[in-house]
Amino acid sequence: MKELENFLSEKESLKKIAESSINNKVPVVSNDVGRLLETIIFLKQPENLLEIGCGEGYSTYYIIKNLESGSYLGIDLNKKRLEKAEKFISSNFPEKKASFIHGNALKIIPELNTCFDVVFIDAAKYEYLRYFESIRKKLNKNALIIADNVFFNEKIFLNYVKEHDRNSVNGIKDFIRFISESNLLKTIFLDIGDGVSISILK
Ligand SMILES: C[S@@+](CC[C@H](N)C(=O)[O-])C[C@H]1O[C@@H](n2cnc3c(N)ncnc32)[C@H](O)[C@@H]1O
Repeated sequence: MKELENFLSEKESLKKIAESSINNKVPVVSNDVGRLLETIIFLKQPENLLEIGCGEGYSTYYIIKNLESGSYLGIDLNKKRLEKAEKFISSNFPEKKASFIHGNALKIIPELNTCFDVVFIDAAKYEYLRYFESIRKKLNKNALIIADNVFFNEKIFLNYVKEHDRNSVNGIKDFIRFISESNLLKTIFLDIGDGVSISILK
């Protein structure tokens, strides 16, 4: 069957891209997390979708694959990565509505005039809560806020954290506390990849 052959060849090329990214020290979502994103977008069909920290577009591939008429916006601080993402996505999905902005999401988001149905956060861990705060007023009802790396290699469960990781661990913990306790949100945590949270804006 053609679909299955396509699936296998996609699986193989995604594996190669992930391996080459990891060799080049470019962090990417795990395949499980990618497939989760792919499924969520397949089911939800958001009108507007934002990715904070699109890197070289590996996660974007999964996010955009099943997006039908909706629009995708990716932001990344690293110009080279962002340019690579733009090329990668336009060559694989020329028909999709995708745009990319280079810069700091915390400066760019306040200037956006769009309201989003899905936001995927995969940027600097110590800033997770700030990303949420900056996007809060630009979320539609029932919007999903999905965050990767919320378990940070299980470091958030440790009693002792090395100084090098402290800002990231504290940032993730502040984010987890907020999304767990906020009356605005309903949240679940999944132990896939490096830990994923999915919050729904009530
Ligand atoms: C984990 S990588 C993203 C990986 C990508 N989502 C993937 O799986 O292919 C994190 C990215 O966040 C970007 N980043 C960090 N802080 C940022 C900020 N304040 N605004 C925008 N991008 C940021 C980094 O440049 C980096 O490319």
